Amino acid sequence: MKQNGSDKMTKVIAHRGSKGTHPENTLPAFQEAIDVKADGIELDVQLTCDGKLVVIHDEKLNRTTNAKGWVKDLTLAEIKQLDAGSWFDERFKDTKIPTLEEVLALLKINQFRGLLNIELKTDRIEYLGIEQKVLRAIEEADVSFTIVLSSFNRDTLRRLKALDKTYEIAFIAFGNKYDIAWLDKHRDVNSFHPDIRWLKRHIDQTTHIENVRPWTVNKEADMVFCIEQKLAGMFTDFPKKALEVRDNG
Ligand code: G3P
Ligand code: MG
Repeated sequence: MKQNGSDKMTKVIAHRGSKGTHPENTLPAFQEAIDVKADGIELDVQLTCDGKLVVIHDEKLNRTTNAKGWVKDLTLAEIKQLDAGSWFDERFKDTKIPTLEEVLALLKINQFRGLLNIELKTDRIEYLGIEQKVLRAIEEADVSFTIVLSSFNRDTLRRLKALDKTYEIAFIAFGNKYDIAWLDKHRDVNSFHPDIRWLKRHIDQTTHIENVRPWTVNKEADMVFCIEQKLAGMFTDFPKKALEVRDNG
């Protein structure tokens, strides 16, 4: 059960792909994570108005595309017209918002053997039925890599557990003693993804939790902290740098 203090290597998980060097949650970002040999990849999913799973962090399009408004108000065909790359760098002009299926296919083609963390972004919008859709997409893709499903929303975690007991489920939180108490009451959720800023001050509260993987670990000192604490993983916008820190000191 105890992860902190075990001999396992801290997995480097590319947050939203390689968010620090590529437009987040796009195929180029995921390709970069594959190319630098990140141990894991994290992405966020939301639903379009015609019920398709799209990979984007914000509920609104404003920050990471050339459009404004809510993801939930557009069809997939409309979403596919948008440019999700130029805001980051002109080099990525006309990069599209991918579907979850497209990302799964990319990982499969590249023979990815790491951990894929699919975060269900239901903390502001419930997205009825998103849990079933994610599980179906994974089954249909028939992938051989490890899947971890996570959410800030505890109802989503409960629904996922009720639908399928085989996948690892992780609770994402900013971190406080009530989150730990909730985890202690829900032992079938055995992974915790807290804010690194909280974790650094409260690591002692988490030593009994099987998989602790904080976000977002971008400073070298924080990477070293996670490695020294022998945490299960760390989410970082700079997977190449984190791998260097871990593997070359
Ligand atoms: O799952 C870790 C991290 O992705 C949670 O925060 O806002 O980047 O989705 P956010
Ligand atoms: Mg996320």
